[in-house]
Amino acid sequence: MAKKTVADIDVNGKKVLMRVDFNVPLDENRNITSDARIVAALPTIKTILDKGGCVILMSHLGRPDGERKPEFSLAPVAKKLGELLNKNVIFANDCIGQEVKQKAAALRPGDIMLLENVRFHKEEEIKDKKAVEDPKLRKAKDDFARQLAELGDVYVDDAFGTTHRDNASMYTVPEMMKGKDKVIGFLVEKELKFLGDALNNPKKPFVAILGGAKISDKLKVIENLMKKVDCILIGGAMAYTFFKAQGYTVGDSLCENDFIDKAKELMALAQKGGCELVLPLDNVIVQKIEANAASQISDDNIPAGWHGVDIGPETMTLFVKKLEGAKTVVWNGPMGIFEMPPFDAGTKAVAQAVAKATGAGAVSVIGGGDSVSAIKKLGLSKRVSHISTGGGASLEFMEGRKFKCLEILDEK
Ligand code: 3PG
Ligand code: MG
Repeated sequence: MAKKTVADIDVNGKKVLMRVDFNVPLDENRNITSDARIVAALPTIKTILDKGGCVILMSHLGRPDGERKPEFSLAPVAKKLGELLNKNVIFANDCIGQEVKQKAAALRPGDIMLLENVRFHKEEEIKDKKAVEDPKLRKAKDDFARQLAELGDVYVDDAFGTTHRDNASMYTVPEMMKGKDKVIGFLVEKELKFLGDALNNPKKPFVAILGGAKISDKLKVIENLMKKVDCILIGGAMAYTFFKAQGYTVGDSLCENDFIDKAKELMALAQKGGCELVLPLDNVIVQKIEANAASQISDDNIPAGWHGVDIGPETMTLFVKKLEGAKTVVWNGPMGIFEMPPFDAGTKAVAQAVAKATGAGAVSVIGGGDSVSAIKKLGLSKRVSHISTGGGASLEFMEGRKFKCLEILDEK
């Protein structure tokens, strides 16, 4: 059943406690380098304000591990949000306590307040499994969550990037708000629609592209996708583990030797299940990993002293061909060291092929920090169907996991 959204409830005159994922990248001067996650939450925020509610936003930023560390303050985000909304955003310099309570009580319809980083309190990240086993942890997590829960008349989850976490503000807070509306925002709705439709209701042919450094991070994704897709294109350093599993040498390339048997298992599983696992035919190799390093193309064993840094030209042609005519595409992870030109050629070729397939009617969903940066860097953001705001969350979604914090929210 579908989840209720902000559009389904009355927020007029109410204090709406909304969890967002404003975990944005900052440079050394604490300037926000991508405001994508803030922009993505604006439709929900604006709707609540327009409908006469006031908004109390909670988020984490980075991993301050329960300590108040100024470099993880959400203050720059409050400023950015104010600019984007062209409106004063009240910033509370903690997320719980007397001052926050007073500030929340004083809010009027149309007001908006951002609370300081919830991860400045270690209770936020107490794992629910641990809290179940240890009464002291349970109490600590509950006491923290209760103070947040008491701030709102309504709970909204628009923090897609954090939906794979059972953090207090994601799970314990809505669980405590019994008898109150607990709904998703438009961003979570959109993410669930694109990722959910792609995985559960795909138009065929369905092609998945997986890259990035480690096969160990994506084992479950590969296993789950195999049941759904026609073909999986494998690039990036994770391909070298498969390469070795096929009996080739990989020189000094990144390779997870502990996962070679697993790679063999996956290849056998794909063959049995009728899913085509497409591995690189050739690789760009270098002796020194640096921009514009002298490179060679290798379509065989990678010699000692050499590192694979990108898929080779034959592989690019093959991957582009596999994407022609695709009707559903999901992509997570770059094909090579794309931040180091010219070893971005494979990622570029794949990105362009995904954009082309989208233009011809495919639904394309891009997840994961690096493939998203690649698409943006290439100026192709508008030529794909959906760019997920979730890295870990979109991967876990592709693993077929259920998100505990969404399960407890109201159904239509
Ligand atoms: C993310 O960027 O992955 C989310 O904001 C979640 O953050 P986390 O991985 O530190 O829990
Ligand atoms: Mg993460």
